[in-house]
Order: sequence, then structure tokens, then C-alpha cells
Amino acid sequence: MIQALLRLQAEKGWLDDGSLGGLAAERGVPLHVLQGLASFYTGFRREPPRQRRVEICRDLSCRLAGGAQACAQVREALAERDDVEIREVSCLGRCDRAPAADLSGTTVRTTDIPELLAALEGNPPTRDEPLGQWRAADPYSKPGERYGALRCALAGDRERLPETLEEAGLRGMGGAAFPTGRKWKLVASTPEGPRHVIANADESEPGAFKDREILRQLPHLLIEGMALAGYAIGASRGTVFIRHEYGPERRVLEAALAEARAAGALGHCIFGSTFDFEIEIFVSPGGYILGEETALLECLEDRRGEPRNKPPFPGTSGLDGRPTLINNVETFAHATGILYHGADWWHAQGRPGFSGHKFMSVSGDVEEAGVHLVAFGTPLGELLERCGGIRENRALLAVAPGGASSRFLGPEALDTPVDFQTFTDAGSMLGAGAVVFVSEAQDLLEVGLSVTRFFRNESCGKCVPCRLGTEKAVKRVEAAGGIGEEDRPGLEELNQTLARTSICGLGQIALAPLLSLVDRFPEHMRGRRSR
Ligand SMILES: Cc1cc2nc3c(=O)[nH]c(=O)nc-3n(C[C@H](O)[C@H](O)[C@H](O)COP(=O)(O)O)c2cc1C
Ligand code: SF4
Repeated sequence: MIQALLRLQAEKGWLDDGSLGGLAAERGVPLHVLQGLASFYTGFRREPPRQRRVEICRDLSCRLAGGAQACAQVREALAERDDVEIREVSCLGRCDRAPAADLSGTTVRTTDIPELLAALEGNPPTRDEPLGQWRAADPYSKPGERYGALRCALAGDRERLPETLEEAGLRGMGGAAFPTGRKWKLVASTPEGPRHVIANADESEPGAFKDREILRQLPHLLIEGMALAGYAIGASRGTVFIRHEYGPERRVLEAALAEARAAGALGHCIFGSTFDFEIEIFVSPGGYILGEETALLECLEDRRGEPRNKPPFPGTSGLDGRPTLINNVETFAHATGILYHGADWWHAQGRPGFSGHKFMSVSGDVEEAGVHLVAFGTPLGELLERCGGIRENRALLAVAPGGASSRFLGPEALDTPVDFQTFTDAGSMLGAGAVVFVSEAQDLLEVGLSVTRFFRNESCGKCVPCRLGTEKAVKRVEAAGGIGEEDRPGLEELNQTLARTSICGLGQIALAPLLSLVDRFPEHMRGRRSR
């Protein structure tokens, strides 16, 4: 139903009452069900659009790059243009081109008004997107070698696959760092019956864009990882759930899927075996919350994407109540490497005392934002050096090592080796590996508020404390113009309420980044309170 709504919208530009009514009659569902879907998802439009649209990111990395001022300049430059609609939207996943705007699939910097005007006239900037050096992550040196891990797996014992991942110690790269081999084993051990594999390519947290580059540059590793997972758990179908803003990356993935089918790596009787596996792409109708695995399932089942209470977990009761394996794009890519080369190879990728490597998206106040493949155990400072250091030779003030949902740390974090446990021990988290550096030139109160506003905007509204608490926190700080000692207990109480009573991770951590700034940088957070 959701894909039918997206198709309808693509035809007409928006969802008018007549089209919704027609679809409801055709599908035999009550009209209010479709209205409920259309009003929940940010990708649906209920009003006719203007001829052209500029969607400007209002979130963390774009703010750090002067997005608020640039947005005002764009509005001024287009003030006379009745044909152009300007909307401020949540993070577009283009933090390496901050401050970013999307013009129907073309990304431009909002600071470059001539480029934006040219793109509006149908002349998008022609850039050669640089390709990364991923030799360490790609087990194959030539296209002909692709799907070698799958060929070997089909000739061997399927139970060895999760065991090898366990030996390697691979953990989920989507944020929660759950042991991947254990998850595959768990789903494989459910009672006989249909099972499903899902790749989570929703990636919508401010600062996160590494899956985007894996989709663009290493799509076959994702496809192979999903097929390997399907074989290991006994599933014949897989779905890539991809955010709708990743149109160019989706097209690369579609081409790679066609290549995989032509090579016999997908479809019936893969490589002459008895194993069938097919992958489809599901385009997200929009919203950060859909990255939460049970909200994602609700969406795939044509409902509003509100997270479910857990347990049951998707591994035992997922899509349509069936055992479902959900992993992040990067997790599948690394699973392919490990299942080709073995667990020892994965251990050898890390610095001494660490295992493996990780794709990290780096943005904020760095000279060159981008995605880097980093050996676990590499000090964070080395990653900063790879990005050319802090912009304009300024000093580092704070860093969010795991995207907008992670607690901010001070410059001492540069000595912390990149790993899940090290960042937890340091008082934050590695999350999905989305590092946002903040220089001394920034207003930390604005930085913290921008993160809290993001969670307020993206709360699905199911839990009252999350829906109201995030709004209350933003309003309080905005009204007071800062956070002083006197505001701390009230905000902490709100934080505790949200952490204890929200059913999903969004509400549980919504106020933590802001409060981490108050803890570490109280003098920067007082704002008007200090006057
Ligand atoms: C609010 C919220 C958003 C999330 N967004 C993503 C996402 O965009 N991509 C992702 O892989 N995991 C995301 N997760 C984590 C997923 O729920 C899930 O743990 C993950 O997809 C499992 O894959 P992994 O074990 O390979 O990490 C999110 C979680 C929460 C609470
Ligand atoms: S915590 Fe917030 S985002 Fe998560 S389910 Fe509750 S209301 Fe929705």
C-alpha cells in the first residue's frame, strides 16, 4: 500500500483526496487508513506542490556549516519566485556537502547560490564523486571473483556461517552493536517456516552517511551478505529498506542486483545449488524513526511506522510475524569479507588488541568531511588528521563520536581508540560511527538545541513522554535563552522520565546529548542566563 501511495504521488506530485479515495476503493481498505499513512510519513504530500522544490537540511552538520544563515540567504534569493517551494527538512544524509539542500534528487550547497539557481533551471552541478579506497574491506580484487564467499558457503555447512561470524566477533554496525553471529544463529534456530532477511539502509541520523557510500561503491558486498544470511537462516527473500533521499544510490543498487541475477548469484538454484534467494528494494516513505527495526517492520506491513514493544524481537517474530533477520548495510558488507577470508582475517584488520575495521562518516568542522575505513583501535585523532584537521586551524571544542544520538565528549576523546567499548567507557558511544567534530567557533547551546529539536521533530508520538518531553525541553531552553545551574534539575528529571518510559531508543536518549554538553561545558551553555 505504501509503495502504491509513493507511485501515485510520483505520478501526480501529491496525494489528493480523489486519488486516495480511488486507491482505497481499488484495494478495498477504508479511506481513513490511507489518510493515516499519508499524514504520518514525511515523504507524502497532501497539498499540490509548486513547480520546483528546494529542501534545506536544518540539522547538526549543516548547522555547523552555517546552514541557518545560508537558508535565510536562499529564501531571500528566491523571494520573488512563486514557482519555488522552500522547505526546511531533517538531515538529508549529505553531511559531507553541508550545508546541503536537495532539489528533487540533486544535492547542492546552500552557500552556493549560483549553483542552486542553475540546478533549479535544470543544470545540476557536474561533479565526479570521488571513490574511496576500500581494498581492505572488499575481499575481491576483480569483478569476476565476486560472490566467492557465497559459492564456498553453498558447498559447505550452513551452520558454520554464524559460527565464523561469532569467532570473528562481528557486531552490528547500525548502532546497537549486537553480536551478529549470535543474531544469525538465533533466527536460524527458530521453528521451521518462512523467514526473511532485511538490510536496514534507512540511515537518517544527523552525521551518518557511511551506508550511502557502501551502497554506491560496494553494493555487491551487501547483496552477497544478504544472500549468505538467507542461506544461513533458511530464508528465500530479502528486502533492502532504503531512505527515499538515496535515489542515486538506489539506482546503483538496482543495477548491481541485475548483475547479481545475471551472474546466477540471485534467483532460483543459485550457482547450481538448491538454494533460492531474491532481494527487493523498499523505498522508505520518510522519517528517522523508520530506522528503528520494529518501526521499519510496521512500515513494511503498511502501517504507521511506530515502534513495537519488545519482546518479541524481530528474530523470532518480525515481518508478518515470521522470524526476521535485520542487519545494517555495513554489517552485511563485513559479513561477506569475514565469510570469504575467515575470522582470523577480521582480527588482523584491527590495530593490536582490537579486531576488524569500520566505515566512519566524518562531518562537522573538519577540512574534508567524508567516509573513511578505519581499523578498530585507531585513535580518533588520527581519523581527524585524515580529514585534514579542524577547519581553519581552529581548536577542537567537542565531538559527538556516534552521531546526533551520542553524548558529546571534549578534545581528550582524540586519544580514544575507535571501538564500541572504548567510547562507552569514555561516557559516550560509537553508535553507527558518525563522528561530528565541533570547533571552538561554534555556539554549543545552539548545537545542543539543534540535536534536541531533531529528536522532537522526529518523535513518532506514540509515547506521551517522548512526544511532550522533547517539545517541553526545547521550549524551556528557548524561552530561558540558555541552561544554567537552576535549569539542570528540571531537565535531568525530564531526561530520566524519557529514559525510563520511552519504548524506543529515540525517546530514551533524546535529551542525553544536550545534557552531556551542560555537564562538560556549563559555561558555554548559559547563553542569556549569564547576563
Ligand atoms: C531511532 C532509531 C533509529 C535507528 N536507525 C537505524 C538506521 O538508520 N540504520 C540501522 O542499521 N539501524 C538503525 N537503528 C538500529 C536498528 O533498530 C537495529 O538495531 C539495526 O538495524 C540492527 O542491525 P545491526 O545489528 O547490523 O546493527 C536505529 C535505532 C533507533 C532506536
Ligand atoms: S520513544 Fe518516541 S519515537 Fe520511540 S516510540 Fe516512543 S514516541 Fe515514538
